Amino acid sequence: KASHPTTIIIFGATGDLAKRKLFPAFYNLYIDGRMPKGFNILALGRADNTNEYFKNYIKENLENFSRKKITSEDWAGFQAHITYFQNQLDEESSYKNLHQKLEEFDKIYGTRGNRLFYLSIGPNFVSTISNHIKNTSLASDAKKDRIIIEKPFGHDKQSAMELNSLLAETFEEEQIYRIDHYLGKETVQNILAFRFGNSIFEPLWDHKHIESVQITVAEEVGVETRGAFYEQTGALKDMIQNHLLQILCMVAMEPPASLESGEIRDRKVDVLKSIRRISSDQVDHYAVRGQYGKGIVNGVEAKGYRQEDGIAEDSNTETFAAVKFYLDNERWQDVPFYVRTGKKMKEKHSYITIQFKPLPHSTFSESSQHLSANRLIINIQPLMDIRLQFMAKKPGLSLVLKPVEMIFDNFACQEDTPEAYETLLLDALLGDLTLFMRSDQVEEAWDVVKTIQEAWETTKDSSFPNYEAGSWGPKESIALVERQGHNWV
Ligand code: BG6
Repeated sequence: KASHPTTIIIFGATGDLAKRKLFPAFYNLYIDGRMPKGFNILALGRADNTNEYFKNYIKENLENFSRKKITSEDWAGFQAHITYFQNQLDEESSYKNLHQKLEEFDKIYGTRGNRLFYLSIGPNFVSTISNHIKNTSLASDAKKDRIIIEKPFGHDKQSAMELNSLLAETFEEEQIYRIDHYLGKETVQNILAFRFGNSIFEPLWDHKHIESVQITVAEEVGVETRGAFYEQTGALKDMIQNHLLQILCMVAMEPPASLESGEIRDRKVDVLKSIRRISSDQVDHYAVRGQYGKGIVNGVEAKGYRQEDGIAEDSNTETFAAVKFYLDNERWQDVPFYVRTGKKMKEKHSYITIQFKPLPHSTFSESSQHLSANRLIINIQPLMDIRLQFMAKKPGLSLVLKPVEMIFDNFACQEDTPEAYETLLLDALLGDLTLFMRSDQVEEAWDVVKTIQEAWETTKDSSFPNYEAGSWGPKESIALVERQGHNWV
């Protein structure tokens, strides 16, 4: 499906996300011949930069962040599609100038009001920009525009609802692309293929056969240059409310009747609705928070969170969160879904573990052999594979069993694996909403974490910092799963 000539307007084009992810993604799509024929990128920034200065800056960053090599020929072609445009996010006159520029572009490039707004800015500016887009009629009447909004979408359920109503004044729901880049990752998309493209796993995918599900997103990085943002956010809002709950939805959803975007999004909302709400007095029982102190990550000394730039000396922001969820539905009754995420952890590793139940009776028990229950591991990153663990006979004269692994490693050739942002930007250009969040999905996800958020925002954790940089998080997170005889694997 080809996309129509489009003007892509990036708010925050001089920011971190644009240089690390957006421009490299557009560049790679361009090299792959996936950008629309007549496209132009209008890069908006506060500073009075020249076009030439901005393009050089993008080129330098592409050298660091692009998946594909930068050749002078490709760059010459790509850069011709970029225009820098000075814009002040909170000044109406800026938007009036932008309006004029877009009309000019429509005429020159035949884009006919086909616009894709990308809000690559802090969450506090979303309503300001949306209001200005409305007041200066930047969005065309024909409702051809699309708007992409980064996470976090709002900062709680109430603010997400308000933002949704505000956006609805200018855009139809089908024009709004709320991005969660984890959904663009190859290995996350593969969960659908794995579950619904095979006949042998789905019959086992329920409480009768599965003991527990674990989702881990562990990062080695700390807050880097994003201290000010992170202080207001924390692991629950930055990762669990969005990325981890979305992965949980992919694992737990019912089979969709088709791959139509509304259908898939409905099935995911069903999962979010079925997650048992944690009552305020049960937060400590179901959720654990942590903050890293100093330590050693990958052989290098690391500062504690409170010593990082822009962080308060007595910060109460969590850099680690683990939660036990239950889903009240027929498929998943009583199966714990453990999710955890943290910064400055022992290693960068995101993965899902499906722990199957042990055998009801073991034929081999008399020979006192230890039988490990079957386990399926879906590695999201940096490993990108699927591993099924089962028991097999050890070669030899006696009947001795050992656990073995069957590995599916389709993603080994990583240089050809598109980055999440490439997949998502292409989908937005093509008008495919499947991998983006609908308004009710975002609101439901906020509702799921609401009581935890309230408890953590209103009470200080006097044990902070409670885990060493370079570890697997606070000991309470181990206790969370051990209480039920489980382990993090
Ligand atoms: C972002 C979070 O959404 O995801 C960051 O705001 C986090 O704090 C990042 O580091 C992780 O993404 P990835 O793709 O590197 O796993």
